Amino acid sequence: MTQREIDSASLEKAKKIFETGEVYGFETGTVAGLCAIHSALFKGLYDFAGKIRELNISKGNFRFANALYLPQILPVIEKMPENSFEAIIKKYVEMNIAHPFMEGNGRATRIWLDMILRKRLKKVVDWSRIEKDQYLSAMERSPVNDLELKTLLEKAFIPDTADREIIFKGLERSYYYEGYEPK
Ligand SMILES: Nc1ncnc2c1ncn2[C@@H]1O[C@H](COP(=O)(O)OP(=O)(O)O)[C@@H](O)[C@H]1O
Ligand SMILES: [Mg+2]
Repeated sequence: MTQREIDSASLEKAKKIFETGEVYGFETGTVAGLCAIHSALFKGLYDFAGKIRELNISKGNFRFANALYLPQILPVIEKMPENSFEAIIKKYVEMNIAHPFMEGNGRATRIWLDMILRKRLKKVVDWSRIEKDQYLSAMERSPVNDLELKTLLEKAFIPDTADREIIFKGLERSYYYEGYEPK
């Protein structure tokens, strides 16, 4: 399979778990919940679907958490509070720094974030309202300062009652952030 075929098949899987409601049944804000999302998105496409990485990875100049320490770090992140917008974003930023999977962290963790926001604030992010460059630069900045990211996300908040079309457009944008361009 080409990268494009993998991404396309994964996007269909992502849409499906929203369509069926399966995504709402996963644990919220936990490592197991994130693994369940990752597995649902990449099962049959990557052999590491839903599996915590054992190798070190980096992007740009940023080195994500050392794989050796993930078993210690992940339970700590999981216990971080979710009692305010600020707290939830802090937790999301830490999970991005952990980057628990070899690939697919961005797409899986954005869904994980939306499930936390939905449960705690009755809101979700309309990702189609956030430009790719702005999102990626805010994420790059986030380990140092999360203000840029908070500003972007807050502006894109919509009620968690958003219809399917908006959710699907958001998923397409999330995949577009990661280089997938539907024809
Ligand atoms: N330099 C960086 N510093 C911190 N986080 C980054 C950086 N570059 C990208 N990211 C985050 O990593 C995500 C991409 O991780 P990746 O595992 O490739 O996910 P996916 O496969 O879904 O593309 C981006 O969406 C962004 O959230
Ligand atoms: Mg990627």
